[in-house]
Amino acid sequence: MNEKKWIWAVCFTVFLVLNASASHAQKAPNACVTCHEALGGTLAKPVTEWKGSIHSLAGVTCERCHGGNAKIAVGNLKKLSQAQIAALQSASMSKADGFVGTPSGRKLFNMCEKCHSYEVGTFSASIMGKAYLHDKGGPACVVCHHAHRNTIPQIPKVCSKCHRDTVGFTHIDPMNVTVATIKQLSNIRIKLAREKTQGARPSMAPRINQKLGSYQVGLIAFGAVLFLFLFGFVIYVIFEKGDGK
Ligand code: HEC
Ligand code: HEC
Ligand code: HEC
Ligand code: HEC
Ligand code: HEC
Repeated sequence: MNEKKWIWAVCFTVFLVLNASASHAQKAPNACVTCHEALGGTLAKPVTEWKGSIHSLAGVTCERCHGGNAKIAVGNLKKLSQAQIAALQSASMSKADGFVGTPSGRKLFNMCEKCHSYEVGTFSASIMGKAYLHDKGGPACVVCHHAHRNTIPQIPKVCSKCHRDTVGFTHIDPMNVTVATIKQLSNIRIKLAREKTQGARPSMAPRINQKLGSYQVGLIAFGAVLFLFLFGFVIYVIFEKGDGK
């Protein structure tokens, strides 16, 4: 009897928690999402891209990046006049609430820095980050990570927009290109060129040797001994059977 009460109490609590979170989510629709989705076309594109992205899954809604007020009640946009929509728009995308439209330069870095201070710090100090901030053709964060569907870029595809020679680019960290990286890259290129002229095969053997630690060597030795033992055992069994007949 006591046990049953316990189970009911747990079920009831779980129900209450689920219900509360569900109704909470329904009570507070995001004004940016609602309006932009209803407007359609290019204004709705950020919403469709953002849905299912790592940011939306992590609860990073529009206003966390752009600022503005996402809590105003929008209601059914189809029933509103053009002027009413414009009024809602300026109430939501308001400068007073820190709204930022399409940022570039330091303003873009500030937007991302709120949550990615380490990445912004590293990139700002790098050769490409400086080239971007000083308007010298460096890539913005959103060239490599789309603004609304933040994915890790394909290398070297994304680099070839600006670089003709992308050999070795998969071996370096593009967020942190420094003088040391350029040296590292030229060494990688020399190595890759040498491998190409010598053919891939001869260089394979030393590479395998380099990779083997004592653990792997032990494992291989153990495997060989085990194999020899089993082989011997099979031979022994076969001979035994032959003798028996
Ligand atoms: C991770 C930060 C981030 C989030 C979250 C975000 N945006 Fe953006 N948004 C940006 C950046 C950065 C740009 C500038 C893009 C560029 O320069 O290419 C931008 C540009 C835009 C633009 C200008 C047109 C365009 O497509 O470039 C619109 C409209 C927009 N965002 C709406 C939204 C809406 C609506 C949401 C919520 C569904 C949202 N954004 C969520 C960062 C964000
Ligand atoms: C009631 C409708 C409505 C709401 C609510 C709304 N927007 Fe907009 N938004 C628009 C319209 C219409 C435009 C395009 C016309 C313009 O730029 O003035 C626009 C343009 C934008 C742009 C591009 C403008 C630029 O300066 O580059 C961004 C970014 C944006 N909205 C983000 C947001 C964010 C973030 C929110 C929520 C805090 C939001 N919007 C709420 C209607 C809305
Ligand atoms: C309000 C906080 C916030 C802001 C602002 C923000 N992000 Fe994020 N971002 C996150 C969270 C949370 C994650 C999930 C992964 C994690 O915990 O690092 C994430 C993940 C990412 C990832 C990793 C994607 C992956 O597939 O691993 C990239 C790239 C990224 N953000 C780029 C940006 C860029 C560029 C901006 C500025 C335009 C930005 N973010 C602004 C919170 C934020
Ligand atoms: C030239 C391309 C490029 C630019 C520009 C760039 N990134 Fe990245 N970013 C990358 C690559 C590639 C990775 C994946 C690195 C890895 O897997 O180690 C990455 C990783 C990240 C991550 C995820 C880190 C993790 O470990 O999950 C975040 C967050 C991020 N970048 C934010 C930014 C921000 C913010 C900016 C602008 C200040 C920026 N990136 C500029 C290429 C770029
Ligand atoms: C929007 C254009 C742009 C994109 C995209 C871009 N870069 Fe760059 N990159 C630059 C500029 C500009 C410089 C600075 C050149 C200088 O100052 O000498 C640079 C410099 C470099 C350097 C050091 C100098 C050199 O040319 O070897 C490396 C390495 C580099 N980028 C790698 C990458 C990688 C890897 C990617 C892709 C993940 C990439 N870049 C994407 C513009 C870009």
